[in-house]
Amino acid sequence: MLYTKSGNAVSKIGIGTWTIKKENIDKEVEALKYYFSKGVNYIDVVLAYDNGTTLDVIAKFLKSVKREDIFINAFITHGCQQISDIEKQINTYIEKLEVSYFDCITLHSPAIIGFDFKEYVKEIKRLQKKYKFLNIGYSNLSPEMFEQVKDHIAYFEGLYNLENKINEDTDVIKACQKNNTAFYAFQPLRRNRTAKQNYKEVVSLANKYSKTQNQILINWMVKHKNIGILIKSSNKDHIKENLESLNFEMSKADYKSLDKFRNAEFDKLKVSYLNEEGAIRIETVPNQPIGIL
Ligand SMILES: NC(=O)c1ccc[n+]([C@@H]2O[C@H](COP(=O)([O-])OP(=O)(O)OC[C@H]3O[C@@H](n4cnc5c(N)ncnc54)[C@H](OP(=O)(O)O)[C@@H]3O)[C@@H](O)[C@H]2O)c1
Repeated sequence: MLYTKSGNAVSKIGIGTWTIKKENIDKEVEALKYYFSKGVNYIDVVLAYDNGTTLDVIAKFLKSVKREDIFINAFITHGCQQISDIEKQINTYIEKLEVSYFDCITLHSPAIIGFDFKEYVKEIKRLQKKYKFLNIGYSNLSPEMFEQVKDHIAYFEGLYNLENKINEDTDVIKACQKNNTAFYAFQPLRRNRTAKQNYKEVVSLANKYSKTQNQILINWMVKHKNIGILIKSSNKDHIKENLESLNFEMSKADYKSLDKFRNAEFDKLKVSYLNEEGAIRIETVPNQPIGIL
């Protein structure tokens, strides 16, 4: 379980920030404030998004909340070619966000760093002592890499949605739960593309419970799978719809029908965690041209 510094449990729905645009800063800040006003107290912060300008939007939002009431997870991301770049990125976050501590520092993907994963692990442990960040996280690790960091990983961010169950197939989600590592899914709605497929299993549940397809998907992941999810939305109606997904229960049989769901096209993709030739990196799997895009 993760907590904010003020002692509140971190919300199971976190704020995703990919595609948040500085050009719409007022609208974006309003959406972030709306999320927070509804009890969402966790935000992903990624230097690489929109050439760093998403940070300006987040910095403005952070001025409106008490620092200890929000869980900030800052990502070591693209542009990390040498070991010293890790510390540089941490300092950029401190400067741009004007924060004195981080709740978590997470590696975006072992595939984007220009040096060995083991070197990263050594350095992040050193930096944790120096900058006193409260938790260490990783994203897009293989099951073998997860084993290597089991002694200190508090947070894992991984792909999970109805059509992409790789992290379940490899037992990474189970391993996180056993290890007391919080698992948060990215692209839980596959950027609204899962709903657009109108899968009969999802449509029938939406009709049965008088909910939207996205509400069925969110409810299944958070309430039944017991995982956290990150959802990006700049639209207050969508945020309201998504948060209201947690106000109902489905029957065991209905949850099971989603557990059993497979998409054969995604299942046959060859997936890699580093940069293996002829394979698709795990974080890009949901963007493959499959189904209605
Ligand atoms: N660790 C990694 O490698 C990694 C990779 C990808 C993403 N992430 C993180 O995970 C977050 C979530 O993933 P994501 O943003 O890619 O995908 P997502 O949250 O599944 O989908 C976001 C998209 O869905 C739309 N949306 C949200 N709620 C909706 C609703 N109720 N009805 C219709 N459309 C809705 C949003 O548009 P509106 O703004 O119009 O609502 C947005 O375009 C990212 O923002 C990022 O922070 C991490």
